[in-house]
Amino acid sequence: MPVHLNTAGAGLMPAAVVDTMSGYLRQEAADGAYETELRHADTLDKGVYGNLARVLDAPAEDLALFDSATRAWSSAVTPLVLTGADRVWITPYEYAGSLILWTELRRRTGIRLEVIPLLPGGDLDVDWMRRTLREDVAVVSVPHVPSGCGIVNPVEEIGRVLAPWPCLYLVDACQSVGQLPVSVADIGCDLLTGAGRKFLCGPRGTGFAYIGPRLRARARPVFHDLHVADMTSDDTYEVHTDGARRFEYAERSGAAIVGLDAALRQHLDRTSRRAGDARPVRDLVREVVEETPGTRLVDPGARHASIVTFVCDRMPAARLREELSARGVNAWVAQGSHTPLFMRRQGIEHAVRVSPHHYNSAQDVEVFARALRAVIG
Ligand SMILES: Cc1ncc(COP(=O)(O)O)c(C=O)c1O
Repeated sequence: MPVHLNTAGAGLMPAAVVDTMSGYLRQEAADGAYETELRHADTLDKGVYGNLARVLDAPAEDLALFDSATRAWSSAVTPLVLTGADRVWITPYEYAGSLILWTELRRRTGIRLEVIPLLPGGDLDVDWMRRTLREDVAVVSVPHVPSGCGIVNPVEEIGRVLAPWPCLYLVDACQSVGQLPVSVADIGCDLLTGAGRKFLCGPRGTGFAYIGPRLRARARPVFHDLHVADMTSDDTYEVHTDGARRFEYAERSGAAIVGLDAALRQHLDRTSRRAGDARPVRDLVREVVEETPGTRLVDPGARHASIVTFVCDRMPAARLREELSARGVNAWVAQGSHTPLFMRRQGIEHAVRVSPHHYNSAQDVEVFARALRAVIG
């Protein structure tokens, strides 16, 4: 088996997740998918939301499930009522998918997109935010950990700065949930989105959002699906809930959702026993990269998550990934275009991204170190 150092792409699913999903699929094939859904209704309609609520430290009625983090994000952001009078603050670490949506919303509504400046070391200039915030800032969007490098943005501190103001606070926690403690209550955000497949080690095709009451009050979704709405006459319909699930669609993959539920339970179980366990391995990976000639860490900020990104002046990132893979190491290529406002300004189109998790050991890092030295050392 390869040494998997690509959890920022997708984590390794534990056996409990795989067994839960395959058992569910077998039941669907034998007994019928709707019938299986009925049998698992408790997990699908309650249990998974309750476990996600515990992981995110958020009320269950404010949670919704989607098939990706991007779907979660766009489902909550697209229906926001914004106008040309509104300023939207983003950071240089904004994920490209979110940037595409902001760019389109700017075209449609005239919102002013403004980028929060960085301090020389790469940290967000939170004092600038404190000094510059005004009533016309309608939205502030911050990724907890970006896609392309491992900086941990101070989302709790930013939450405290924004708390007295009317702006909505959106946090992309796609790369942080599962590797760092994430508490919606402590962050004080109105939206927090994530994916099941990364550091939570759940299945692909799962995403989720905390969509808080303030955001729900300021969103006008044009569509509600049949799990939350009914036609009440030939030309009227009613929505039965004000909860976050009204942002979901009715159709879902039961196997993926019970798999996500199993991953959430595993995560809760693991973190109740040990906390912050991926950090030492992350530090070992950084040391290996730092000591390898011809490499340069892409490593802004004072606090780092379990994502180590580097460029190599001797070999393109794609080739280096292939060579590492041939030596039994899974790493990935971080595309500059996925975090364009930061990476491209650093002149980085491609970099190697190494993202260990709790299942990686110091021996795994030695395998990585040997492979890296064999390729470029
Ligand atoms: C920071 C960040 N946000 C959002 C996403 C989008 O997640 P998804 O691919 O589930 O839509 C990613 C994906 O890698 C990401 O790294």
